[in-house]
Amino acid sequence: MTQEPESSEDVEANVSRETLASVFGDDDERIQQAQDYVGLLRTAGIERGLIGPREVPRLWGRHVLNSAVVGELIGRDSDVIDVGSGAGLPGIPLALARPDLWVTLVEPMQRRVDFLQEVIGTLGIPNVEVLRARADEVAPRGRADAVVSRAVAPLGKLARWCLPLARVGGAMLAIKGQSAAEEIERDAKHLKRAGGGKAEVRLCGREKLVDPVFGVPTTVVRVERAR
Ligand SMILES: C[S@@+](CC[C@H](N)C(=O)[O-])C[C@H]1O[C@@H](n2cnc3c(N)ncnc32)[C@H](O)[C@@H]1O
Repeated sequence: MTQEPESSEDVEANVSRETLASVFGDDDERIQQAQDYVGLLRTAGIERGLIGPREVPRLWGRHVLNSAVVGELIGRDSDVIDVGSGAGLPGIPLALARPDLWVTLVEPMQRRVDFLQEVIGTLGIPNVEVLRARADEVAPRGRADAVVSRAVAPLGKLARWCLPLARVGGAMLAIKGQSAAEEIERDAKHLKRAGGGKAEVRLCGREKLVDPVFGVPTTVVRVERAR
């Protein structure tokens, strides 16, 4: 007898505890918080137009797990700013995976800020705050250990927004796609002008995201703040 293939949504719902524990730690409360976050993205996030309905089958792999593993590039007890957080990506998964971090979600749109505050309140995440602002309005500047972002702007513009928020020796970490290396080359002058030093492409989650259904490693452009 042939069986109906599982829909990709079913496959997503079956993300294993082992995968979740490898990313969020072997901690039932945090794993539950991550599951509840995906539940909110799938419902309120879509109803309010913060996530496209076509993203439902890949909420775990492409969005939540891929965001959380960026913590591999962030030191212990760091201060982190997520610029243009939208529905909380990558900042919320990062805060859940790394309770030692302090994460500030920066988002200018009130509608998105409301959603972020509801998520933090409903899930009870203790190490995240939301700031309604554009990146260039954030103060104090030059203090964050890491400034993360995903799908916000081309690298050169992102550098102008993110690097001034990082301390000297800190870094901006921009989640990018296949063209990450080309963006570094194309925008090298902008990176330097914004105070950038060493710029490189790093892959996160190579050991954790081994199941292609639940995500492939995340490509990150890391630019150090040199001055
Ligand atoms: C395409 S969304 C990406 C949201 C989220 N990072 C993600 O990956 O799903 C871009 C976000 O950047 C925000 N944004 C646009 N200009 C910004 C600025 N100057 N400073 C901070 N955020 C900004 C938008 O309001 C929006 O929420």
